[in-house]
Amino acid sequence: MTTAPTLQARIRATTFEAAGVLGLELVPLPPARALPAFAAGAHIDRHLTTPDGPLVRSYSLLNDPGETHRYCIGVHRDPRSRGGSRHVHEVLRPGQVLTLSAPRNHFPLDERAPFNVFIAGGIGITPLLGMIERSRALGIPWRLHYSARTRPHAAFLDRLAAWDRQGGGQVLLNFDCEPGGKMLDLRRLVAALPDGAHVYCCGPRPMLEAFEQATAGLPPGRVHREYFAAKGSPATGGGYSVALARSRRTLAVPEGKSLLDCLIEMQIEPPFSCREGVCGTCEVRVLDGTPDHRDLVLSDAERAANDRMMVCCSGARSPMLVLDL
Ligand code: FES
Repeated sequence: MTTAPTLQARIRATTFEAAGVLGLELVPLPPARALPAFAAGAHIDRHLTTPDGPLVRSYSLLNDPGETHRYCIGVHRDPRSRGGSRHVHEVLRPGQVLTLSAPRNHFPLDERAPFNVFIAGGIGITPLLGMIERSRALGIPWRLHYSARTRPHAAFLDRLAAWDRQGGGQVLLNFDCEPGGKMLDLRRLVAALPDGAHVYCCGPRPMLEAFEQATAGLPPGRVHREYFAAKGSPATGGGYSVALARSRRTLAVPEGKSLLDCLIEMQIEPPFSCREGVCGTCEVRVLDGTPDHRDLVLSDAERAANDRMMVCCSGARSPMLVLDL
């Protein structure tokens, strides 16, 4: 079982947003129905069938979080695409219908912040657009540092330029592959944060790793990031047991298998989607034991609480885990 698809939406328009980036505007089906509401930072899962089997892909919602008449997403064509982004770029056209899950959010905006600083790399701009919309609506001052390879690779520049002109926030662009260009200096950006500012980052893995190093000295509650792809390898060392409290069964996880693989074999499946520890779909409550967290969804504080885990990629540090399954 994967995340249950709960709704269908029709592609109303596709737009060229930047080199390798298509924008899709999705409207409800039937048309009179409102789409489920979402908060800034949320994403939807798209379910599709490929010759290799079912596929689920997550896309951040980039339109105004107050809107329920449409979802807008941006899709970067991944040269290593296993079918998701390639299908969007080569096959999808206005009028076609997509099957989606309702929005979920593992990258929420803290609406109490006195100032928000956003750092985006490439397609990582997408979740931050909704956050800037929301900051503007709340009157929270903000600053965006947006880095792309070159100007033609930077998406949604018209929208960003309009916000910059209207005041209340500032857009600073960086093109690291243009002549004289260089990578964003995240240590310098973090050192210059306004008092109490919250800082959000989404982009390629090297940028996120540099961001984590640069923000290591900040209070964790002010630091927020979202990964699009796995950073490390899943826990497949095995050698531990799992008691399933609700189904009153126990399983032994052998070396070479993930906990999710074992659960699927037993036909006790939590919902799952990415299988890489980035979407949060497979979260399960931990009733006892110590997980070996390998996901990129939980914060350090949430990991330390040991009361939940992502079973697609995480394992156990204790000989036994008790799960609410
Ligand atoms: S399935 Fe995405 S985090 Fe586990």
